[in-house]
Amino acid sequence: MDKYYITTAIDYVNGAPHIGHAYEKILTDVLARHYSLRCDDVYFLTGTDEHGIKIQKTAAEKGITPKELCDENAQKFKDAWKALDIDYNKFIRTTDDYHEKAVQHIFKKLVEQGDIYKHSYEGLYCSGCECFLNPKDLTEDGLCPTHLKKPEVVSEENYFFKLTKYKDAIIKHIKEHPDFIMPEFRANEVLNQLEDIQDISVSRAKSNVKWGIEVLDDTEQSIYVWIDALSNYITAIGYDDMSEDFKKYWPADVHVIGKDILKFHSIYWPAFLLALNLPLPKHIFAHGWITIDETKMSKSLGNVVSPTSVLENFNMENADAFRYYMAVSAPCGRDGNYSDDDFKEKVNAHLANSMGNLLNRTLSMLVKYFDGEVKPEFKHENPLGKKALGTVQIVKNHFDRFEISEAGTEIISLVDAANKYVQDTAPWTLAKEGKLNECGQVLTDVLDIMCIISSLIYPYCPNIAQNMARQLSFNLKTKLDDLTCNNVKVGKLIEKEDIKPVFLRLDSELADKSSKK
Ligand code: MSP
Repeated sequence: MDKYYITTAIDYVNGAPHIGHAYEKILTDVLARHYSLRCDDVYFLTGTDEHGIKIQKTAAEKGITPKELCDENAQKFKDAWKALDIDYNKFIRTTDDYHEKAVQHIFKKLVEQGDIYKHSYEGLYCSGCECFLNPKDLTEDGLCPTHLKKPEVVSEENYFFKLTKYKDAIIKHIKEHPDFIMPEFRANEVLNQLEDIQDISVSRAKSNVKWGIEVLDDTEQSIYVWIDALSNYITAIGYDDMSEDFKKYWPADVHVIGKDILKFHSIYWPAFLLALNLPLPKHIFAHGWITIDETKMSKSLGNVVSPTSVLENFNMENADAFRYYMAVSAPCGRDGNYSDDDFKEKVNAHLANSMGNLLNRTLSMLVKYFDGEVKPEFKHENPLGKKALGTVQIVKNHFDRFEISEAGTEIISLVDAANKYVQDTAPWTLAKEGKLNECGQVLTDVLDIMCIISSLIYPYCPNIAQNMARQLSFNLKTKLDDLTCNNVKVGKLIEKEDIKPVFLRLDSELADKSSKK
């Protein structure tokens, strides 16, 4: 694997980020960090989607310009991702100059080659989805099924993209590449949608949608926001001038998106790419949705939770626990839920009681019985070695299928196995009985495995992993394929005063206060 190019959906900036947006960015960051332990060149792109009628309307309601609204909210997304340790390489804003120009060029090319044509049209437009809806997909009351709002009747002369021309090629691609749409169970849904696709409108009259990229040589039309938005995946890496980065990174290894926007990514985007004569991304991974206390988040219900408020309510010094909880909250592609109580319970159990305590107890015993020193005779064939290296392989396989929660379960089961080993061998009894060599072997076995655990948990909890690795004198940059069962060095490992808990249990009083809010 010589490069790994990974992207998130770019978020609408008509509001501040919520934990649904955060869920996706965390999943993507966990993937990116995992792949950084397998490949030297990971490129992670995220950003904001800033044009369209929705932004135009929100700005008008607030009495500010769309650009002011975008600037204000794009910054909130950047701040939130910083607080969550989302380590992206680039943040694209679709109002960036270079992006706007590139989108105009893409549109012009498609017009010139006949893939885009002009046509009068009347349809039902949902500004929530930023797309025309098929009347047969509306609810019985004629509402958009996602936003439960009545779509607007729009009658305009627009540009149309010949989506139908690419229908067969896309069906063929999906059938020949069963891992193109992940998880696989979503592919059928897309194949069904492909059955009755029509050519799509790819511009709006400027008189109706002012806040959009203008069509070159046609000042009356704005480019459809989904052409604008989807193009970010290529414009960000320099498609317009065929930069070295573009040649190196395209096609993307994976677009991480929510299940609600799968149609745009697995039908429209492949069609645009085929029209541009570009290869298709290797995978499109559609994650599920996050609910709050089992309820859909919505402004009208007043239950929209911001990721930074969770960090503040639990008085957390970094986002590791929240990242871990979100990343394991749902099986691959399924919906998940956030609740304060479950959050507290799960991270206290997994990160503090199981993982953190194990390291702390083991290091403390090494100091108590051996003055913190790993002696050469403590190294032997590690009874946990096979399981640990097997877990590394299983975790890699899960990641290759975007099974981030499932990989997390495997890591915790390795932690449990190490805990059970300590319990079964009782090194404190061995020490009492004078079996010091055996005692030292058990402790060293566990510490060697803790190095592997720090590496596996790093994508989810980078701060905790660094803290663990520091106490183990382990190089966290070690590639997964280079891990062995012999990771701690012989000699003095640690002084008593350098043993620090890697994760403090979430204070129950603070947590209670937060759940009452
Ligand atoms: N701007 C488009 C995406 C364009 S990508 C070329 C958009 N924006 S969005 O702000 O509505 O959503 C951004 C991402 O957040 C989407 O992948 C969406 O699925 C995800 N989520 C929004 N709410 C969510 C939850 N409640 N739970 C999980 N993800 C959710 O769509």
